[in-house]
Amino acid sequence: MAGNIIALLCLVALCKAIDIDTLKLEQVLILSRHNVRTPLTAKLESYSSKVWPKWNASAGFLTEKGARLEGYMGKYIAEWLDSEDFIEGCPNEDEVLIYANTKRRTLDTAKAFAESAFQNCNLTVQHYENIEVFDPLFLPILHNTTEAFKNQVREEMENKLREMNLTEAYIELSKILNLRTSDICKKLYLCELHLRRDEIVLEDGEEPNVSGPLDIGNSIVDSFIMSYYEGMPTSEVAWGEIETDHQWNLISQICKENQNIRFNLTKGAKDIARPLVKYMFDIFKEGNPKFTLLVGHDSNMNSVIRAFDFKPFVLPEQFEPFPIGGKVVFQKWSDISGQYLKVEYVYPTTKQLRNGDRVTLLQPPKKVVLELNGCEISQSGYCPWTDFMKLNVYS
Ligand SMILES: *[C@@H]1O[C@H](CO)[C@@H](O)[C@H](O)[C@H]1NC(C)=O
Ligand SMILES: *[C@@H]1O[C@H](CO)[C@@H](O)[C@H](O)[C@H]1NC(C)=O
Ligand SMILES: *[C@@H]1O[C@H](CO)[C@@H](O)[C@H](O)[C@H]1NC(C)=O
Ligand SMILES: *[C@@H]1O[C@H](CO)[C@@H](O)[C@H](O)[C@H]1NC(C)=O
Ligand SMILES: *[C@@H]1O[C@H](CO)[C@@H](O)[C@H](O)[C@H]1NC(C)=O
Ligand SMILES: *[C@@H]1O[C@H](CO)[C@@H](O)[C@H](O)[C@H]1NC(C)=O
Repeated sequence: MAGNIIALLCLVALCKAIDIDTLKLEQVLILSRHNVRTPLTAKLESYSSKVWPKWNASAGFLTEKGARLEGYMGKYIAEWLDSEDFIEGCPNEDEVLIYANTKRRTLDTAKAFAESAFQNCNLTVQHYENIEVFDPLFLPILHNTTEAFKNQVREEMENKLREMNLTEAYIELSKILNLRTSDICKKLYLCELHLRRDEIVLEDGEEPNVSGPLDIGNSIVDSFIMSYYEGMPTSEVAWGEIETDHQWNLISQICKENQNIRFNLTKGAKDIARPLVKYMFDIFKEGNPKFTLLVGHDSNMNSVIRAFDFKPFVLPEQFEPFPIGGKVVFQKWSDISGQYLKVEYVYPTTKQLRNGDRVTLLQPPKKVVLELNGCEISQSGYCPWTDFMKLNVYS
């Protein structure tokens, strides 16, 4: 009788007091962004007459340091899995899935992770058969190409553009570049970023895009951020012009807005991320593999997070909205009374990346608990697995 009453109270109180010491880790699925890469475009020269830093690899490749840092993340995750008695030694082939987009940087990130997390286990990185094209699973495009849907998405993007105010960020960036003395100013009269308008580009089969100062600013600030992570001397990171966190936060607003406008969309994100979210739910439903790592891009992190409908969150000690090497870690836990979901954003801080710090259980990367609308979490961050599975409208 007393037991029944306790069980009933427990139901009423949503089992807030889960005994975390008795929880057992049953399944892990990680959605990850690749690690430190070279800038996506090498065509930035015209935006400043100053000398741009040289990169060792072609545009958009994982750097050597990026591979090393991803190895640290792999090792850290393996230590954690080991401490939870989840996987010890080499896993069976069917227990683990390492799957990456077809880009060099995502494949190399997955390889660096796997070789370090599962050392000497000879795991292969799985990928879409045609390595020449973007894997449709990761390709962040609109799948519903009806005019009605495209108009809805366009309208939301336009509203977001209208609400955004990057004047201060653009002025700061123009100052850092000394845009007035650049070729682009002399030849194409682009001398002030904040005076130009952005245009939304929605083409079938292409990523939702914005052309104009937002895209230009995003490419430039991204190259500064990567050179900072890569550990270039201060004089080569934006020519030593960024001296405070305030400046970093100000100019990285441009990258945040670029992501926000293109992929953080009410209806659009569910459509864009549908293949990936369905794939993830299928793995949860199946209960297999036990451990999955999916490696994609910030556009995937963004659209998947929005499609799942996570509550807004803040990632301290980072200036990127979806940090490089960052991982959304979905965990299924169980105890005698049920199964639970916990989701954490695990990511290296800007300082850990720049310093090339090894992350370990004692010096961990940052962890932020995420909460889904529709799956209320306990104080320790767990929500009922059955509530989570009810959110699967994809099968
Ligand atoms: C470029 O790569 C080579 C070998 O891959 C390495 O020895 C060198 O230090 C790298 N240079 C820079 C500036 O990263
Ligand atoms: C590693 O895996 C590959 C591909 O699955 C296989 O061809 C190779 O023989 C394996 N090597 C060892 C040492 O097990
Ligand atoms: C595409 O979007 C339109 C407009 O929102 C909607 O009416 C239609 O059902 C959607 N089609 C599919 C296949 O989801
Ligand atoms: C945008 O921000 C700037 C300063 O940050 C302010 O002066 C300006 O009025 C704002 N513009 C709009 C349209 O709100
Ligand atoms: C977005 O538009 C810009 C400017 O037109 C272009 O340079 C860029 O390649 C486009 N990006 C994608 C992913 O299509
Ligand atoms: C995405 O949009 C929501 C609602 O519009 C907002 O609360 C959230 O902060 C945005 N996320 C990012 C990373 O910009």
